[in-house]
Amino acid sequence: MTAPSDMIELRNVSKTYRTKRGGDVVALQNVSVNMEDGEFITVVGPSGCGKSTLLNMLAGLLTPSSGEILLQGTPVKGPRRDVGIVFQSPVLLPWRTVFQNTMLPVQVQHRERKVYANRAHQLIDLVGLGGFADKYPFELSGGMQQRAAIVRALVHDPAILLMDEPFGALDAMTREQMNVELLRIWRDSRKTVVFITHSIPEAVFLADRCLVFCPRPGRLVDIVDVELPRPRDLPVMNTPEFGRYVQRIRSAFIENEEAPSEGALVSNL
Ligand SMILES: Nc1ncnc2c1ncn2[C@@H]1O[C@H](COP(=O)(O)OP(=O)(O)O)[C@@H](O)[C@H]1O
Ligand SMILES: [Mg+2]
Repeated sequence: MTAPSDMIELRNVSKTYRTKRGGDVVALQNVSVNMEDGEFITVVGPSGCGKSTLLNMLAGLLTPSSGEILLQGTPVKGPRRDVGIVFQSPVLLPWRTVFQNTMLPVQVQHRERKVYANRAHQLIDLVGLGGFADKYPFELSGGMQQRAAIVRALVHDPAILLMDEPFGALDAMTREQMNVELLRIWRDSRKTVVFITHSIPEAVFLADRCLVFCPRPGRLVDIVDVELPRPRDLPVMNTPEFGRYVQRIRSAFIENEEAPSEGALVSNL
């Protein structure tokens, strides 16, 4: 039985890709974890540790090779209405205004336009794009486009928000501001968020719990409860507590690094 508070449940989930050359890549191995309603979960790990694979499976865009994923108690069989997704690149349609872009899920899911148009305008204000609703994507900065993508992911009021390195393409200062904004939006909207990043400080700053992944094969090596007080602002990053969380995650990466075999060393000489 799933406890009522479990919004997301991964049961022994693995994913193996068959490559074009006929080999197998184990992208994720035996991942089991439960996420609670309203929790802010971050997933951190180096490139290739299966982060996007995990997110795409949660989104119903990929099927696990084995194991099971439940969202709100029901197995994921394909894309769902109760999920919103933000990818690394905002992928807005260039011929649509900000408002029209944010209404896309409403159109695709045949929801009542009037109800959600109001909501879209409220969210546009909430993310600081008030006054830009009728602008086209090319008239916006990268950070503003990503804000529009966040509104698009939230417009149909999904219970779960999935974000795959959403601020990876932004400069460091804009990125930090976006993190603060995101926490504010999360506090107001109370979604369950799964946020993927390869930045350890970003993972700590945002998280209630941080899932630490290592590659080859992609696997969950540590779960860190981040007990920094909320609401959080950027200066928390300068505290010793913050530093300790960062250090713990770094250690998990170092401990789980593969030691190169003797053969590999010889062949590198
Ligand atoms: N469609 C695919 N076919 C074959 N291998 C893949 C495919 N997608 C991802 N992989 C491999 O799976 C592993 C995990 O990839 P990915 O989930 O994209 O990791 P991350 O997002 O952490 O960088 C990598 O080794 C990657 O090369
Ligand atoms: Mg990725």
